[in-house]
Amino acid sequence: MAKIKAALLGYGTVGQGVYTALKTHRQRLKGLLGEEVEIVGVLIKDPHKRRDIDSNIFITTEFKDILKIPGLQVIFEAIVGEEPGYTYLRRAIEKGIQVITANKVMFARYGKELLQKGKEYDVSVRYEATTAGGVPIIRTLKQILQVNKIERIQGILNGTSNFILTEMRNNEISFDEALKLAQRNGYAEENPTSDISGKDAFCKTMILSELAFGKQPIWSEVELQGITAITSEQVKQASQRNLKYKHIADIYQENGDLKASVKPILIEESHPLYSVDGVDNAITVEASLLGRFTLIGPGAGKLPTASAMVEDLADIYTVKNRQLQLSI
Ligand code: HSE
Repeated sequence: MAKIKAALLGYGTVGQGVYTALKTHRQRLKGLLGEEVEIVGVLIKDPHKRRDIDSNIFITTEFKDILKIPGLQVIFEAIVGEEPGYTYLRRAIEKGIQVITANKVMFARYGKELLQKGKEYDVSVRYEATTAGGVPIIRTLKQILQVNKIERIQGILNGTSNFILTEMRNNEISFDEALKLAQRNGYAEENPTSDISGKDAFCKTMILSELAFGKQPIWSEVELQGITAITSEQVKQASQRNLKYKHIADIYQENGDLKASVKPILIEESHPLYSVDGVDNAITVEASLLGRFTLIGPGAGKLPTASAMVEDLADIYTVKNRQLQLSI
């Protein structure tokens, strides 16, 4: 029986999550797609690290070796940073390989270009996992964007920051203690600076902006602040007044200009994001016909992020199968 041959670029928390999800949901995928999905290659950084990967899978530190795998159809990319992720995906698209990425830093800058390239080469470029972990905000926006006009998006887009603020409030622990807990749980990036400085949420905000508004604000004009300046005392005082600090991304149109900010703000109980605690992310969208709705769910972590990636895979192949049926 034919198999869908896939490779993983990166074997950190997300790469391992995809590996696990494809194994544990093998039968469901086979039932849905009519073919098994087989991981045939894994690109790693450190050849000396011990990894629990089946012995029949090709492991390499060289991307050119991954591209040489005969019949490779899909790449799951979970590398950190703009490069080499961008170059790898560009080359994969040029070879007609479908790409699914979780790399928000890269996609915030190069997403538009890669999507365009995907069209040129008739290749799918999927990026649900870049933004809000397992919360299906990209596909939701794509669906309601067809007629509705998006008026505003507000979101909690960094699970680590939300987890830290929640822990500081609920358990009265320090920022440092809460950060350590987030790292132990696998929510924070390798270098958590991008989480707590707001950079990670900024990239996700730009990805949402491109999709919802067809453009991004000028990056240097976005007000960007992380959560590092918030003290335990401030959190405590806010709590006594029934207020919460939340790290919120906000994108809206003002006099025809697109404005955005990514920063901690104090919110009241009536705010739609007030009850979003722990590692959860949430996005409140205001749309011209639909009005306001909020999606809430796990914004980080191994399996939630893998969920977004394997659902992207399912989308690609169910659409392909439908096209094939129509053409017969
Ligand atoms: N470090 C990120 C977060 C992971 O905490 O939200 C998901 O992008």
